[in-house]
Amino acid sequence: MLLPSPWRADFPAIAALQRQDQTYLDNAATTQKPQALLDALTHYYASGAANVHRAQHLPGAHATQAFEDTRCKVAQWLNAADSGQIIFTHGATSALNLLAYGLEHLFNPGDEIVISALEHHANLLPWQQLAQRQQLSLVVLPLDADGVIDLDAAARLITPRTRLLAVSQLSNVLGVWQPLPQLLALAKAQNALTVVDGAQGVVHGRQDVEALGCDFYVFSSHKLYGPDGLGVVFGRHAALASLKHWQFGGEMVQDADYHHATFRPAPLGFEAGTPPIASVIGLGATLNYLSSLDQTAIDAHESALHALLVEGLQERPGIRVLGSPQLALVSFVVEGVHNADLAHLLTEQGIAVRAGHHCAMPLLKSLGLAGAIRVSLALYNDSEDLERFFDALDQALELLQ
Ligand SMILES: Cc1ncc(COP(=O)(O)O)c(C=O)c1O
Repeated sequence: MLLPSPWRADFPAIAALQRQDQTYLDNAATTQKPQALLDALTHYYASGAANVHRAQHLPGAHATQAFEDTRCKVAQWLNAADSGQIIFTHGATSALNLLAYGLEHLFNPGDEIVISALEHHANLLPWQQLAQRQQLSLVVLPLDADGVIDLDAAARLITPRTRLLAVSQLSNVLGVWQPLPQLLALAKAQNALTVVDGAQGVVHGRQDVEALGCDFYVFSSHKLYGPDGLGVVFGRHAALASLKHWQFGGEMVQDADYHHATFRPAPLGFEAGTPPIASVIGLGATLNYLSSLDQTAIDAHESALHALLVEGLQERPGIRVLGSPQLALVSFVVEGVHNADLAHLLTEQGIAVRAGHHCAMPLLKSLGLAGAIRVSLALYNDSEDLERFFDALDQALELLQ
């Protein structure tokens, strides 16, 4: 089946990679960038860079305007009520660390933090380390055979001792949407705070934080076709008000003398120092570009490609697909073949996929695996990318099996 991508030409790096004989299928790690973003970065740097929120001069006013415009666009993209609910960080990882430090003062020894067995290290380690600092218990929700968080177990494990639930929306290893409405309802019934790691979920379809009803939602710009070095925290106003300042420096301060200081509320109070200005402006351009596309057509294209990928893997003997992937990516292992050997042979044939533990070591260990190969898709991939992948896979398996 031929599945061309109508958006492929908007991403100049795809053609450049093809000229280097590279087929890029590692999109869950990071994505290629649209021309609209490249133009915005060039325009910002070529027309006069300036710092934001502090300069009186014209370049500073322009930069601040473009920076704050992006905050509004991000709020719109997530259907947040207003841009004051959007904090810029340096990535999803720093967003989750901000939350783990900023909320630390709310916990007492014996309280429980609930995560799931499939979390990326970024949504595991900040909570694990907080639990160790404050003598809290970290409760891990198990998964069913499809890779979905087990709701019966969740109903037992989310209790009056639960102070916070932090779960991923879409697993970066299993490609499975998690039952967020039910999980968030269980946590809310116990008055626990809720954190959603949207690093993968935000890339596939439009997400609506109002409808979701979580307290916090985080993601990284670079996985959503935007620049790197930039993350986003959405927070409900009441939840933001409970955050304690955690990084200190320029512009987050209201008033300072040598021995005391007071700090701004969110969002600026949580953006200490010079923020990634060009990246924020670039994300604004990326969101403009993405908003101009037909989301229904993207969803249909991504799910048709994904079905092709799953079918192709399932029809090859000896391949075990992890979980029951629904979208975006597939991780797999091959009986009797080390994933590093397979990855090596795929790399040699110009196929860019990811091998290893995918920053979810406990999940891989629980599946009895040291690693797996992950193929992950983006809107610019097409069926020819998958053909090249399968040809390379067949060649590699002929050598290895
Ligand atoms: C589910 C998930 N959460 C968090 C992260 C961390 O994102 P970043 O490395 O951009 O901070 C990733 C990155 O792979 C991810 O897949």
